[in-house]
This record gives sequence, structure tokens and C-alpha cells, in this order.
Amino acid sequence: MSIGLMARSLVESPTMRLNEEARKMRERGEPVIHLGIGEPKSPTPVDAIRSAMAKLSDANIHYTPTDGTPELKQAIIRYMDDNYDRQAAPDQVIASGGAKQSLSVILASILNPQDEVIIPAPYWVSYPEMVKIAYGVPVIVHPEDGRFQPRFSEIADAVTSYTKAIILNNPNNPSGAIYSEDFIREIVEFSEKKGIWLIMDDIYHKLVYGGKSCVPATRFTERDIDDSKIIILNGISKLYAMTGFRIGWVVAPRKLVNVMIKVQGHGSSCPPAVSQAAAAGALNGIQSMVENLRLTLQNLRDLMVQELEGFNGVRITKPDGALYCLADFRAYSNNSEELADFLLKKVMVVTVPGSAFGMEGFLRLSFCKNVKDITEGIARIKWALDTTSPNEIFINDHKLVRDWL
Ligand SMILES: Cc1ncc(COP(=O)(O)O)c(C=O)c1O
Repeated sequence: MSIGLMARSLVESPTMRLNEEARKMRERGEPVIHLGIGEPKSPTPVDAIRSAMAKLSDANIHYTPTDGTPELKQAIIRYMDDNYDRQAAPDQVIASGGAKQSLSVILASILNPQDEVIIPAPYWVSYPEMVKIAYGVPVIVHPEDGRFQPRFSEIADAVTSYTKAIILNNPNNPSGAIYSEDFIREIVEFSEKKGIWLIMDDIYHKLVYGGKSCVPATRFTERDIDDSKIIILNGISKLYAMTGFRIGWVVAPRKLVNVMIKVQGHGSSCPPAVSQAAAAGALNGIQSMVENLRLTLQNLRDLMVQELEGFNGVRITKPDGALYCLADFRAYSNNSEELADFLLKKVMVVTVPGSAFGMEGFLRLSFCKNVKDITEGIARIKWALDTTSPNEIFINDHKLVRDWL
């Protein structure tokens, strides 16, 4: 079988691999606790359901315009106005099948082979691979000493004549860090001066805690959307707990959106019509569910931080946003993949190795779970790693004996 070089260079997502392993264990009746994936499980907003049902009852479900229905685009324009204080025009907006597809269409539209894209670590696991799929070169910037806040100079020093874009995810998956306003301002000014695209992945921008806020990058430019280098990426997956509908969007200069329409048109024609109706319903509907989700997550974050702070040897920086704690387990292992495999095998807890995010020695734990999973999951990890804990525990009716320390 002949496989292309680019595809061969891709790394399997550890999240997907561990998910699959956990699924098989669950099928065998093993009481797995999943602190891996970050997926809000709130019910779909009622306005989204109503709007999708109305579309279905119409029995008129066909291709839509490639860049999305006028209704969805109007809803996105309103969202921009409400949350970014920016007036976008319909031809500066394109909806896609999830923010992930939006990003791959952006990259396919802006990159030449060998163009470089700067990505500060820790980064979302898919960014480097998506850049490679578009025949670009991911350039990872590792902040000094494992900090979660990159310095402007570290990014600027990584720029070469091949640099085409910088990707920032704010707040950040996996660290939960919100970048400082000074940093965002400097990056916006720099990218506009240098003519480098600044892709802002804002998928978690309202999931922020403890009175913190995440200021949109657009606040730091005087330029209008067509003259700016900022590309806004967002979607309904996280804020509205609508991962299964697969709708994301981009707001960008119309020249870029025009190219993206060509790319997307040849790739997938358009996002699914029923999902677009649901997304428009969610965006136009009652917004209290977003705040309810945020408050629930804030409590769960506090609980997870408290449990991790009581864990000898584990170091934790309190996340200000998103769905995850990125905890430093280097006191226990410098190989996070081995550690995650060990925890799954020995105490049936799914975590994601920090190596997948450019942070070896760390584990990402999602607090987008229930209270029992968080407390019991962390208790099991403690039991597995802490030599001072008793030699046996019971998990449901499974008796576990520690025979590895
Ligand atoms: C940082 C980041 N961006 C984008 C996405 C993808 O979102 P979507 O479900 O809209 O494709 C995710 C999903 O986990 C994410 O964590």
C-alpha cells in the first residue's frame, strides 16, 4: 500500500487513542473514569432544537450556500457585534463544519508549501498536524521554564521570512491560561506591521472564571476587518455544548473569505443545513445557558484545583478559562505518555499526556465532568502514585492491590 509522505508524518491523536482504549475497557465492564476529553454535556439549547425541528419539518433540506445560510451568517454577525464590538458584513463571514474544519480551510487558503506557522506551547493537539496537512511547517515556541504565558519576544524571535501565520488559542487548551492584554496587543500590532496572519481561536472565550475576562484581539486594532490581519475563529461546540452539530465559523477580510469559499466548496460544499439552523437558533436564542455552563464549570474547576493542590508532588497553576487543568507530574514521571497509560491500566482513569501539547511531564485533566468523577478520579491517581497511601483499595467491587511501588 502506498501512503503519502505528508500523511505518514502525522501523529495519532493521543486523546482518540486513549478514548478508544477506555471504550474497550468499559465494554468489558471496567469502571473507567474519563478525565480526558473536554466536552460539555449540557442538553442542547431549546432554541437550537426548535430551529432544527422547524427546518426538518419543512422537509426541504438541500445544499445551502457554501459559506452558510443568510440566517446563520446574520446570527454570527450579531454575535460579533455583541461580543467583539465589530460590525462584520456577510461576505466577511464563512460557516464551516466545526471550528476544526474552519481552521483547516483557513490553512489551506493561506499557506504555500513550507510556509511556517508559529504555535506557542502548550498548544491544542491538532494545530501542528493541521498545519502539516496543509503542507506548512509548524514552528513551536516553548516558553522558558514551562510557563503557560509566552513572551512577545519569544514569538517575535521565531519569525522568519517564511512565517505566514501565528495561532493563538485564548483561553488556552490545554493550560486554561488567558493571555495578558499586553501580550495580545503586542502580537496584534506586530502581526499587522509584519503582514503576518493572526489566527485567534476563540472557541472557549466565554468560559472564563473567577471574574477574569478574555478581551478579543480585535480590541487592539484600529483597522477594519478587511485591512486587518486578524482572523477570528469560533463555534458552537463548547459554549453551547453542541459538539455533535459540527458548526464553526470565521470572520476575516472578504478577500480571504472568498478564497476560503472556493476551498470549502470543493471540499465539503457547505455545512449541514439542519446543523446550520440549530446553530442560528442557539445564537439567536436565550443566552442564559452559556452563563449557567460557565458557573457550573467554575465550581468544577475549583473542585479539581482543590483536589490537585492536596496531591503531594503535583504542581498546578489555576486555570482561568477553558475546560482543563494542566498539572505538572514531573515529580512522578518525565514520560507523560507512559504515565497516562499506567494510570489507565492500573486505576482506570483516562488523562491526556502533556507530550501531546508540547508539555512533557504534565497531564491534562478535564474538569468538564461530574463531582464524583473528579474526586474519585483524582483519589485513584493519588492512590496509584503516592507510596504513603494504603496498599489496597476497592473500586466498586474490584479490589486493587498496589504491586508496583
Ligand atoms: C482549541 C480548540 N479549537 C478548536 C476545537 C474544535 O472545535 P469544533 O468542535 O468546533 O471543531 C477544539 C475542540 O476541542 C479546541 O479545543
